[in-house]
Amino acid sequence: MLAATPPMGWNTWNTFGPQIDAELIRQSAEAFLDHGLAQAGYSYVVIDDVWEGRERVDGRLVADADRFPGGITDLADDVHGKGLKLGIYSCAGTLTCEGELGSYGYEEVDAATFAEWGVDFLKYDFCHVPAGANGPELYRRMGQALRATGRDIVFSVCEWGSHQPWLWGAAVGAHMWRTTGDIVDTWESIVDIGFVRQVGLEPYAGPGRWNDPDMLVVGMYGKGNVGRGGCSDTEYRTHFSQWCLLAAPLMIGCDVRDMSLATKDILMNPEAIAVNQDARGIQARKIGEQVHADQVSQVWAKPLADGSVAAGLFNLGERSRAVGVGFGSVGISTPCIVRDLWARDDVGIFRGSYTTEVPAHGVAMIRLIPQ
Ligand code: GLA
Repeated sequence: MLAATPPMGWNTWNTFGPQIDAELIRQSAEAFLDHGLAQAGYSYVVIDDVWEGRERVDGRLVADADRFPGGITDLADDVHGKGLKLGIYSCAGTLTCEGELGSYGYEEVDAATFAEWGVDFLKYDFCHVPAGANGPELYRRMGQALRATGRDIVFSVCEWGSHQPWLWGAAVGAHMWRTTGDIVDTWESIVDIGFVRQVGLEPYAGPGRWNDPDMLVVGMYGKGNVGRGGCSDTEYRTHFSQWCLLAAPLMIGCDVRDMSLATKDILMNPEAIAVNQDARGIQARKIGEQVHADQVSQVWAKPLADGSVAAGLFNLGERSRAVGVGFGSVGISTPCIVRDLWARDDVGIFRGSYTTEVPAHGVAMIRLIPQ
């Protein structure tokens, strides 16, 4: 099955926006190997908007000849040569969000072109859609066209949740679908997208079909295209923990050629990634929330294939506070080993519940292993 676990990779948009070229893609693919991202499970190198030339040639899209001199085929060969996969971007409308050529009316020829080039992933956006066009229908067309190519191409729907794609995404052949508008590199954006807007979407996720709360801003520190205020490492750890618990696609958005030590530790924590990539593919559900004046804490839980349960004890407030989980609320009636997935150490055996002090904007990400 394609995308049996949430796709993991990197995408140009968050840091580079429209300033992209083949050299950036090559260097970033190289960085997947140099910095251990590939070994950690990241495999898709995705070119977002603004890779195209001005006009179709013989009805086909072509890459901008100055910035992508060998075309996409060359790049795909290089990326595949490193054991990685190549992703590309197009749009269901007549133009992309940045005004490049879209695939509206050219779905079959574009899908065939991408397959011929050796593309393994298509992010398909929703700008400049003709008035009166039916959104889900446009995605169905591209889904069908991709399937008709016979190539394994992950289909990533990006219509920002406007037509509730969790209800029809899988039926049109999508493997993941954005559930919200664009993330930016601020704590407020992480909280809104990750903790408010994903509630209730968990029934729609599973192997081959994922809710996508947008790409990661971990490690951006306010730099680049969606860089705004930037976040602290504590906040980035909270962001990554929640995306892992949500079984979200893990698409890195920082410059992978130049990551801080803290960024690498966050993005490559094998125990957090194992929660994200768990074979059962269950998306975490919010099982508890406490509001104390301006302080909010939340507990999210994700049952895993081995019978253990991953949980995030989140402190979304401004002051350190204790956050706890009752084992009964996650369906466990026996004592548990509590494992701290950031300390990567067992904390001990607990009965009934586990409570720990969590810093402001922080998380305790744990696994409860029933004994
Ligand atoms: C939309 C998408 C973004 C990005 C840009 C590119 O805003 O939601 O993720 O792909 O378009 O123009």
